Amino acid sequence: MTGQGVTAKNAMFTGTLIGASGGVQIIRDLTSLHATLDRLRSGGGSVAMVPTMGALHDGHLTLVREAKRRADHVVVSIFVNPTQFGPNEDLSAYPRQEEADAKLLRAAGVAILWAPTVAEMYPAGFATSIHVAGVSEGLCGAARPGHFDGVATVVAKLFGQVRPDFALFGEKDYQQLAVIRRLVIDLNLRVDIVGVATARAADGLALSSRNAYLSAEERTAAVALPRALETAARAIESGESVAAALAGARAALTAAGFSRIDYVALCDAQSLAPLDSLDRPARLLAAAILGKTRLIDNIAVNS
Ligand code: PAJ
Repeated sequence: MTGQGVTAKNAMFTGTLIGASGGVQIIRDLTSLHATLDRLRSGGGSVAMVPTMGALHDGHLTLVREAKRRADHVVVSIFVNPTQFGPNEDLSAYPRQEEADAKLLRAAGVAILWAPTVAEMYPAGFATSIHVAGVSEGLCGAARPGHFDGVATVVAKLFGQVRPDFALFGEKDYQQLAVIRRLVIDLNLRVDIVGVATARAADGLALSSRNAYLSAEERTAAVALPRALETAARAIESGESVAAALAGARAALTAAGFSRIDYVALCDAQSLAPLDSLDRPARLLAAAILGKTRLIDNIAVNS
């Protein structure tokens, strides 16, 4: 989206670039963001924020709907954050479809789309990085070094920029949610973190922009991931040994055609420390590769 579609009303409002896409204000600079939020807050309403990297699908929109239930105003951010991509992960290939995203947000009744440029987010001289030790280091953090530092840093910045009362994150990215909960506690950030249950396709596969990379055959096979987690979770809950249940899940993934399993692990639901028995609220998490696509999923396990 460019300056096309800037309305006189919006341009007058901040004196800087605000695009308008059918009722969604697209804001790209902090001065305009702060002016808009100050105006909203002067009416006394609460603000909920949904951070995203765009390419929105129904999983993201589940967060938006929950945000609307919780607060008077919803700010969605779209920022493809370079610092959370590893050197071998193709940042430039990440799907960017802002116009389609803006239409979805308008239909969902979102008024503000915060879509800063990379230069606005990381101006020359930017030098800070946040590392959330422990919870960010295993699982996906082990496979993607630096990833959660990038996530924690950009989310802390987004919170500083928007100062939301609530921020919503999907349980789909369970480790990310746990990292952000820890960050908010440790830095005394005044925002309520709301975790939202994973939105799934009818067959149980978690919705993800990565599902688009699966061939028809792989898409059919992918359902083995939620099924393997479901089977293992119920087995652990009914007293089967954790080691046997995890081995069963790995075997099911391999049989379905997953070529590499990064992890299948039972972890403490908060700290994500690995567990070998079910002695507290737990989460079963997995990451595995099907064809060229790395899929993740997770499920609650309760005694
Ligand atoms: P992104 O992958 O765009 O995801 C944005 C939010 O949507 C995350 O909180 C994610 O958990 C949630 N989400 C994705 N698929 C979901 C599903 N099927 N059900 C429920 N929620 C789902 O996660 C990020 O962006 C980035 O790391 C970000 C937090 C924006 C920081 O850059």
